[in-house]
Amino acid sequence: MTEGPTDRATDPATRAAREYRRLLVTGGAGFIGSCYVRDVLGRRDGTEITVLDKLTYAGNEANLASVRADPEADARLRFVVGDIADRDVVNDLVRDVDAVLNFAAESHVDRSILDPEAFLVTGVIGVHMLLEACRTAPQRPRYLQVSTDEVYGSVAEGHSREGDVLAPRSPYAAAKASGELLVRSYVVTHGIDAVVTRGSNTYGPYHHPEKLIPLFVTNAIDDLPLPLYGDGLQRRDWLYVSDHAAGIDHVLRHGRTGETYNIAGGVEMTNRDTVGLLLKHLGKPWSLVRHVQDRPGHDRRYAMDGSKLSELGWRAQTTFEDGLTQTIDWFVENEPWWRAARTGDWDAYYERQYGQRLRTAT
Ligand code: NAD
Ligand code: TYD
Repeated sequence: MTEGPTDRATDPATRAAREYRRLLVTGGAGFIGSCYVRDVLGRRDGTEITVLDKLTYAGNEANLASVRADPEADARLRFVVGDIADRDVVNDLVRDVDAVLNFAAESHVDRSILDPEAFLVTGVIGVHMLLEACRTAPQRPRYLQVSTDEVYGSVAEGHSREGDVLAPRSPYAAAKASGELLVRSYVVTHGIDAVVTRGSNTYGPYHHPEKLIPLFVTNAIDDLPLPLYGDGLQRRDWLYVSDHAAGIDHVLRHGRTGETYNIAGGVEMTNRDTVGLLLKHLGKPWSLVRHVQDRPGHDRRYAMDGSKLSELGWRAQTTFEDGLTQTIDWFVENEPWWRAARTGDWDAYYERQYGQRLRTAT
């Protein structure tokens, strides 16, 4: 999305005067969504949030425990367990808010290779239900779609810009790109007020231990092998979670209708170097690392140009060294949280994803 209509309902000048006091945050029990909820309610500026979350294996109400423990913030939080693909639930909730922020998604690339269906139901049908609800709600809420740099596909050189062609290469990235295209179509055809953010690889406290950094930190704590895909020279641009949440809030409040904004961490690292840093911080040896069979279709490099959002006044605040230290310390101090996340289908998933890989590792 690069341009949108400029009728009165979506005119940025009209929108600028509007406050977003009552928010619907979908996926607010997940990693980034819960950070957004904690940070916004922690500002004590009167914002009220309704969270709609299906509580999949990745959603955890305990991620909002600090809000629950603070009576002033808790009074401004409502939690609804439900599915964004459920029309009735969504219609009901969207009518009561000034803005909808859609964090809800299946978020793990490896699971999208094993079992893609839920990615499509949430990423396409779910987004469609939210957009329809925004289109028909009398107060015309603003809609923000949380998307990802993975929609650009692998970037051989240079940095992706918002107008670049979308070239997703995993079912996860394809579902996210599909969601974005639906948003674009509703802006153009129906004149809804919507913006899209594309965040880079995010890390921090409450990150589900299936992802690279928390998986390797928690495995290393237990002296378990660390399954590094291929040569480990893939490159990712890392963004600390509270910076990502702040970038999303900035786009909600300052983004122009119909526009897309990259939220870049500006920290490009090979996976090998990231793993080296985290092992050093934990005082664990490199010998824990196993080079395992690569992920099919593995994107070699992500890198985004973040200048469009910096022109709006946003900048990442956290260096990779500080963010990684805070993240590792949080996992060391919050063992019950991550051990609980490694229950349920964890063992079955782990065996399916890593069993054969680790048995044939070099
Ligand atoms: P996550 O998996 O930790 O959380 C997703 C949340 O959505 C969970 O609480 C889950 O229960 C909920 N959910 C899933 N399907 C739902 C449905 N149908 N209805 C209602 N709730 C549902 O994911 P995350 O890492 O916090 O990612 C949040 C968003 O940010 C996603 O849209 C993701 O694509 C995007 N994103 C993530 C990253 C990253 O590095 N983690 C980077 C860029 C963008
Ligand atoms: P991940 O955290 O899954 O994020 P994404 O695939 O969305 O970038 O993976 C980050 C990088 O780490 C990616 O290049 C894949 C790699 N990786 C491994 O090498 N081993 C693993 O076990 C995992 C989960 C990821």
